[in-house]
Amino acid sequence: MRVAVLVSGTGSLLDAFVGDGIAVALVVADRPCPALDRATAAGLNSALVVRDRFDAGFDREGYSARLVEVLRDHDIDLVAMAGFGTILGRAAHDAYGGRLVNTHPALLPAFKGWHAVRDALAAGVSRSGCTIHVAGLEVDTGPILAQGEVPVLPGDDEASLHERIKVVERRLYPATVRAIIDRGSVLPVDDPTAPEPMTAQEA
Ligand code: GAR
Repeated sequence: MRVAVLVSGTGSLLDAFVGDGIAVALVVADRPCPALDRATAAGLNSALVVRDRFDAGFDREGYSARLVEVLRDHDIDLVAMAGFGTILGRAAHDAYGGRLVNTHPALLPAFKGWHAVRDALAAGVSRSGCTIHVAGLEVDTGPILAQGEVPVLPGDDEASLHERIKVVERRLYPATVRAIIDRGSVLPVDDPTAPEPMTAQEA
């Protein structure tokens, strides 16, 4: 299974994939970012499919179609979004629906959206975490593959809580993708003896 990782940020999840020994066939970024530099440093194939604008005039479908072309050019089977800053349109879901996975820094269905960590803190929850899921057309929806929980501690700010979540994500996301590769399908096989979705808890 040829795996592409989509990035926009620091790329610590990308590093975790590589560290776990997952063969990353392609890294795609939507903007210049440290994650793209990490891909280059690791000797991975990478592509910058630049998002030209961030306002309401953004052509989401056109962008998604260009991205799909690049993924197909590299014979990609599975697409793992790892801090990717662009919501993909229907063209991407038509081409890769069911084979597009994402990680989100909250326990979905709670705290969807771009400010999940901040929103969880503001809500005063005592636990948060990450959710790895098959990406649906609606943002932060789709079948859940794995969740990892962490405590919210007194004195936490957005950065400290996010980093605690990312420690779990860096373990759980590669493990989840590895399980997909091993079984050759994104969703667990419909078998009553199949394992439950993976969970992880910070010690
Ligand atoms: C991760 O925490 C991921 O859940 C989050 O971006 C971070 C990427 O970290 N994704 C989102 O917020 C998507 N809505 P990284 O750049 O260090 O790999």
